[in-house]
Amino acid sequence: MNKTIYFIANWKMNGNHNSIKEIERVFNFLKKNAIYKFKKIIFCPPVNLLSSFSEKIKSRLIDFGTQDISKINISNGPYTGQLSAKMLKETGANYVIIGHSEKRIIDEDFKTIKEKINIALKNKLKVIFCIGENLSQKNNGISLKVLKKQILSSLDKKKINFDNLIIAYEPIWSIGTGIVPSNSYLDKIYRNLKKFLKEKYKVNKPIMIYGGSVTTDNVATLREISLISGFLIGGASLKSASFIKIIKNYFR
Ligand code: PGA
Repeated sequence: MNKTIYFIANWKMNGNHNSIKEIERVFNFLKKNAIYKFKKIIFCPPVNLLSSFSEKIKSRLIDFGTQDISKINISNGPYTGQLSAKMLKETGANYVIIGHSEKRIIDEDFKTIKEKINIALKNKLKVIFCIGENLSQKNNGISLKVLKKQILSSLDKKKINFDNLIIAYEPIWSIGTGIVPSNSYLDKIYRNLKKFLKEKYKVNKPIMIYGGSVTTDNVATLREISLISGFLIGGASLKSASFIKIIKNYFR
């Protein structure tokens, strides 16, 4: 069966109003290449660009997401600097990235991540939930233990609808480093995660993707891991040429 493959562009703190041209190029490519049917393309630019980008590209071929959401569970109020789920939806976003390691080290602890996930889902924003171990955890052989803890402490058994949650496994030692885990390492991780999610959450087909130094060169190798349903792409998503090539190389 053909499953949906996700290509999610995480622009982090990059891009400006001119960067719409990168998304327009991807859009034109998608329009011309309807053969790539079973895929979802999601751009997560910085929030200051979201409204204007989503106004310019109104098409089912491209979705938008934000890189953060307030943990305050109301739509409006006296909370300086916060953006509520309602406000984010008004920018055109349908997705939100939560639990990214670059955010965890600044201000997202387990409790905050859990609150954000619940608020997002309640407000019909789909969640891209990031998990990942660091290098010393990997070297100490505790990767799976770390990942399971991240999942258990943030996914509320009673509140999670797994149709609206994408789990992005992003080993921290792989993000922005050019180092990608071997397929045997990834295979073991994804198999174990699937088993764990089935045991703990009774979910049969969790949507699991990979992130960390995905490029035009390694995407075909990563494709061999059948439990991977797509990618969270940082650096290589900033330019349309490499982002398009990643999609092409995946489906080749
Ligand atoms: P990278 O970033 O592709 O630049 O490694 C991925 C991510 O952090 O989501």
